Amino acid sequence: MNLSMFSRKKEAVAFDIGSNSIKLVQMNQTKRGWELVKMGMAELPPEAIVDGSIIDSMTVTNTLKDLVKEHGVKVKDAVSSLTGHSVIIKKVSFPAMTEEELADSIQWEAEQYIPFPITDVNIDFQILGADTDGRGQMDVMLVAVKKDVINDYTNVIKEAGLNPVVIDVDSFALENMMEINYPIAPGENIAMVNIGASITSISVIFGGLTIFTRSIPMGGNQFTEEIQRQLSISFRDAEDLKSGRKHSAEHSGDLAGAMDSVATNLTFEVKRSLDFFLGGAQGSYVSKIYLSGGGSKVAGLQNMMQEKTSIPVEVINPFKSIEANQKQFDSERLKDAAPFFGVAVGLATRRFADR
Ligand SMILES: Nc1ncnc2c1ncn2[C@@H]1O[C@H](COP(=O)(O)OP(=O)(O)OP(=O)(O)O)[C@@H](O)[C@H]1O
Ligand SMILES: [Mg+2]
Repeated sequence: MNLSMFSRKKEAVAFDIGSNSIKLVQMNQTKRGWELVKMGMAELPPEAIVDGSIIDSMTVTNTLKDLVKEHGVKVKDAVSSLTGHSVIIKKVSFPAMTEEELADSIQWEAEQYIPFPITDVNIDFQILGADTDGRGQMDVMLVAVKKDVINDYTNVIKEAGLNPVVIDVDSFALENMMEINYPIAPGENIAMVNIGASITSISVIFGGLTIFTRSIPMGGNQFTEEIQRQLSISFRDAEDLKSGRKHSAEHSGDLAGAMDSVATNLTFEVKRSLDFFLGGAQGSYVSKIYLSGGGSKVAGLQNMMQEKTSIPVEVINPFKSIEANQKQFDSERLKDAAPFFGVAVGLATRRFADR
């Protein structure tokens, strides 16, 4: 989060390493804005990453290598991100001080808020601004990520012959993606709901900053598993029916029922998180929900979420303001893949000081 803006910046390639697939994006910053250079996606087998932890590092490494080779990526510096229970993000109140002062004392200040030994986590923070009650305090977004999980991610990247320069957090990457694609009116809260295969992350952005996050251990897999259970079919077949790649007249009623029950649960959880946020922030409201992740493609989910929350819901297009050469990137394919690429595009906007 805390980047020096002054030194020469190097290009990096971004990898969103999800439990269902790895997404690759490389972009160029031109005078006119952002330009898409590379984009790719490769599926992972179901047991390679479970609940945000890398189980089969060899498979993840090989998939990274294949992606790099397939797309002819030359850049070595790589950016990636984490989500789920290995990431703790909390809004806390500290005595007012400068960013430098806080950087010096963060380990000590943060200790009471982290449910793990402070030596087991990497800590980062973002100052959100002065407390409104005038007691000389300031609001800070505290971010702690377990070192062993960071190591697992940096190791697979290194093993793939790349140089991991930063491991970010999915919700902050989405914040960056929004900044370039969806200007938000000042004073407006918007919610991001990223529905992956195993994790749904919810965050609220205000004034360009993430002020609330929560993750739910639920996503596209729950739809597939429910279909699998109700129709007594394999996971693969259930995936095909869910995503509309195959159809089954015989099962259509049960399929709709299974999808509907999981969509109802997921929507309920999202609404509960937003209500929790709104309960703690007096007089505020969320003016829009932006959906991303492969799970946002579930038929009818967008409408259901809109109805149950009474908030307008839109599926993001992270390539909206990005120039893409039409010969290299088929516009239909970009449109189809868009919901998957929110995190990767956000990561690809990061630039690093030349070391
Ligand atoms: N057309 C579709 N309709 C419904 N669901 C779909 C469709 N295409 C993909 N999905 C689902 O999207 C999910 C994958 O989304 P995504 O790539 O965002 O997850 P991930 O980043 O790999 O996972 P996570 O972030 O949870 O670790 C899978 O559950 C997949 O079945
Ligand atoms: Mg994901």
